[in-house]
Amino acid sequence: MCGIVGYVGKRDATPVLVEGLHRLEYRGYDSAGLAVVHRGRLQVTKTAGRVADLRAKVQPATKSTIGIGHTRWATHGEPNEVNAHPHTDTAGRIAVVHNGIIENAEQLRDQLTAAGVKLVSDTDTEALAHMIAAEIAADPTLSLSEATCRTLNRVEGAYGLVVLDTKRPDQLVVARNGSPIVLGIGESEMYVASDVAALVRYTRQVVYLEDGEVATLHSGDYQTKTLTDNGAPAAARAPMIVDAEAGDYELGTYPDYMSKEIHEQPEAIRRALRGRLDERFATARLGGINLDARELRSIRQVKFLGCGSAYYAGQMGAAIIEELARIPADAEPASEFRYRSPVVDPDTLYVAVSQSGETSDTLMAVQELKRKGGQVIGTVNVVGSAISRETGHGILLHAGPEVAVASTKALTNMAVNFALLGLLLGRVRDLSAASGDRIVNGLRNLPAQVADILATQTEIAAVAHLYAAADHMFFIGRVRGWPVAREGAQKLKEISYVHAEAYQAGELKHGPLALIQPEMPSVVVIPSDDLVAKNLSTIEQIKARGGPVIALTSVHDLPDSAADAVIRVPRAEPELEPILLNIPLQIFAYHAAAKLGRDIDKPRNLAKSVTVE
Ligand code: AGP
Repeated sequence: MCGIVGYVGKRDATPVLVEGLHRLEYRGYDSAGLAVVHRGRLQVTKTAGRVADLRAKVQPATKSTIGIGHTRWATHGEPNEVNAHPHTDTAGRIAVVHNGIIENAEQLRDQLTAAGVKLVSDTDTEALAHMIAAEIAADPTLSLSEATCRTLNRVEGAYGLVVLDTKRPDQLVVARNGSPIVLGIGESEMYVASDVAALVRYTRQVVYLEDGEVATLHSGDYQTKTLTDNGAPAAARAPMIVDAEAGDYELGTYPDYMSKEIHEQPEAIRRALRGRLDERFATARLGGINLDARELRSIRQVKFLGCGSAYYAGQMGAAIIEELARIPADAEPASEFRYRSPVVDPDTLYVAVSQSGETSDTLMAVQELKRKGGQVIGTVNVVGSAISRETGHGILLHAGPEVAVASTKALTNMAVNFALLGLLLGRVRDLSAASGDRIVNGLRNLPAQVADILATQTEIAAVAHLYAAADHMFFIGRVRGWPVAREGAQKLKEISYVHAEAYQAGELKHGPLALIQPEMPSVVVIPSDDLVAKNLSTIEQIKARGGPVIALTSVHDLPDSAADAVIRVPRAEPELEPILLNIPLQIFAYHAAAKLGRDIDKPRNLAKSVTVE
């Protein structure tokens, strides 16, 4: 949510900042801006548009070796040029870019106004620039870091921020509290960003800042200290080498990231399975969760916590775990869990699910769990992210960088990893070796089966084109098909803006059937399970009311005449079928959105990782 980039070194900063912002645009894209120091003066360029507009606006002749930039997802104030970051003090000496939300912003803005400061934007961030400038004006001997710390000690809320002082054009000050910040170490140059995506083109050596830390970056070095502990130096951390390369973020021959990421799924699944299947004992190896057989056996229940698609993936995981391990499992939106004073059971394994590892609601749920002594592991895609560090152990998704706002390969890898967890929990209980073997083989077959589905893209696209003009759609599923239906509806509404609602098949007759009419198509998910006949009768109920039906199924002898359109996937082991059934719905949403001319990678009002409430 919002992207930050900063640079101090020997290069021309502007292209570095613009390139970094371009890489971060998926985090927020309603306005963008940058500030550099040119001939001792601050030069700020902003746009209410995208980074491409900013690129066209910046002064190519400006040669500056220090600067900060930002791409925004509006929280305080509408997305216009004035509210775009960086924000400055009145004299134009201090510039600040900020992610997160300052909760006492109104109070701070009122105090500044009372002191005669004229605020020009509606943002919380602008207050910070004025406050830092005021600290320096009151005591010119203060370092930029000290002035920033004094300001932040009056601030409540979440932030990742970078401060630039025109009078000290050799340093940037960076602070973190609840919003990700990563430092990139180059050769006599330092970078800072909210996400490694902005850095990997320049360096893979990074240090993640911890909450409550403030860093001062010079071209040749950096120092960190703690905000609260009287400015004591922060514990030294060895830089990490990022396991991603610039090429991982390139589109290659694909028209957009969603299409690229959909097609990367066979390889992403292979990566998730690599080294994790134990054929000898027909089980899974998940060393990262750090639980021995006795501890695994003592788990009496599993609860998945995530938001949006990560929550639906958790629902898929809960179903697989109940089936394989025969212990109760369920999923809950992390956004609800954190607010409802949950009863935390010491014998429950809580699984925090997040692609980005930065989703604020999920992170807060983890912190609430830890505070109450809950046993929590993380399943995240981004190494070094807040949730992976907060949980300390868990399962890495290994999906590779996911850039499109709509999650595809990460969700698939979540479900694959939950199947591994189910296998492991099952095999320390009553799941037989033969059944374990069946799941191991079923998992091994998934990449090729997903590739087979991708090969039918043209047919799925034709169905999507047929129904893209609908104003509303239903996605109907039951039991194994239910989370698939929910995720299918989510994907369609998110990128095509077609109103899509998911319903349990059995619930249709209790109300929503009233909405069925020729203008309301329904996708009905039909796995190869004991409920095929029930699902076919759901189709009949809908058809009898004139509703068009798209059947999505792994049942091979389902005749084409069963529905207005039939989308088929290969048969898999029954417990794993939701993983395959989900793929055509990604393709369906993608092609419906493309037909409607939507900005597929950057749907309106959304951002990739939601680091605010
Ligand atoms: C997925 O398509 C959505 N963009 C969204 O629901 C997402 O899954 C959710 O915000 C959670 O993100 P996370 O996995 O990074 O925590």
